[in-house]
Amino acid sequence: MDFQCQTNKRLYEEHAATLQLLARVERVFTGRAGVYPPAPGDTEWPAFARSLLSAIEVEVARHFEFEERDLFPLLEEAGDGDLAALLVEEHVTIRAVAQSIAGLLRGSLAGELPPQQWQLLKTLALEFSERLSSHAQKEDGALLPVLENLLDQDTDRELFGAYAAG
Ligand SMILES: [Fe+2]
Ligand SMILES: [Fe+2]
Repeated sequence: MDFQCQTNKRLYEEHAATLQLLARVERVFTGRAGVYPPAPGDTEWPAFARSLLSAIEVEVARHFEFEERDLFPLLEEAGDGDLAALLVEEHVTIRAVAQSIAGLLRGSLAGELPPQQWQLLKTLALEFSERLSSHAQKEDGALLPVLENLLDQDTDRELFGAYAAG
């Protein structure tokens, strides 16, 4: 998609990176990328678990905070409060699932995940993937075009600068 605003370009790229990560999540948890749950001593699992954990705790957290703090209020001001409210509601649900997943991933990295928890982790990870991919696609289709009209050059530069720096 072609956006003029730096802010939108950046969000679009981050959504694309997220969708790629989620495709990987689905391959891992459905066993299409190897055996799930991993055998004891499996070396690929810890690397994957760490990268998913960092995506949840760093990238997704930062991206959500930026949208909520700096972008959704602009939507409200412009009369698109319904869209902002819907996206915030989805953030709340996705964060809750992400938090449970993070706890289970930490348990797996500490070697302390009982068998039934591996099943729970799979269920939650697939739910996370479904919800977050539909959310990111919704933002690409609805949020970014609205912002593209809303952001003037100065605001765009300011927002993008602060986000890129922060
Ligand atoms: Fe979002
Ligand atoms: Fe987003």
